[in-house]
Amino acid sequence: MSDQNDTILLGVNVDHSASLRQARYKDNSEHILAEPSVLNFTLLCESAGADGITMHLREDARHVQAFDVHSVKSAIRTRLNLEMACSEEMMKFALEVQPHSVCLVPENREEVTTEGGLDLVKNYNKVAEVIKVMNASGIHTSLFIDADAEQINRAAELGAPWIELHTGAFSHAFSEGVWEQEWNQLSEAANLAQSLNLVVNAGHGINYQNIKQIRKLPYLNELNIGHSIVSHALFVGIENAVRKMKDLMNP
Ligand code: PXP
Repeated sequence: MSDQNDTILLGVNVDHSASLRQARYKDNSEHILAEPSVLNFTLLCESAGADGITMHLREDARHVQAFDVHSVKSAIRTRLNLEMACSEEMMKFALEVQPHSVCLVPENREEVTTEGGLDLVKNYNKVAEVIKVMNASGIHTSLFIDADAEQINRAAELGAPWIELHTGAFSHAFSEGVWEQEWNQLSEAANLAQSLNLVVNAGHGINYQNIKQIRKLPYLNELNIGHSIVSHALFVGIENAVRKMKDLMNP
């Protein structure tokens, strides 16, 4: 990937299609009539041009369920990126599902969404173990980290092929109109990561407004976007929502 961002790929995070189903069918989400169908929603994302599908099976299974991940994995033609905590249980699940990649995230039961990057200093040995096990099974590992030089250096030391830069702080700052500092941090992080041969992905809080800036991030390979696309889909349908984001990413 050049620093011209030739074509930025889009991974659509479909978790919130499951949030809507769980709001009504919490205890009966596998029922044939439980709607919306996460699988059909996902297939429409693909047919509209999603380059990959991301799902986060959380410990509390508040949105996506294990059966969703299995059914999506067996039906999609693109790539499945499984977001997960660094736990034994999730490692076992990933080996069973065999996604194209896993993205390691911190998980905290009380948070509304993933609130910060994974701390690679604190979790070094645990992350090293997951990377080793995933490598042995041919699964790529991505590390969701803050735009911070120490975290990026650790990611390179760990031999992870990919990082996903946490864009949440930038997105928040962008909505307040004071984003330059967060932007500089993201740009410096992307440059450092590229110099260490890490593939640079990014995600969190990206929407139809801030994408016009985010797409200028150097060496960007893929963006993972969920909430804004699923929200926009309520108005225009998921295929239009995906196409519109792709057009804005690669004008
Ligand atoms: N990337 C990671 C690692 C995430 O945890 C999330 C949220 O689940 C996303 C991307 C997508 O964020 P959003 O839903 O704000 O687009």
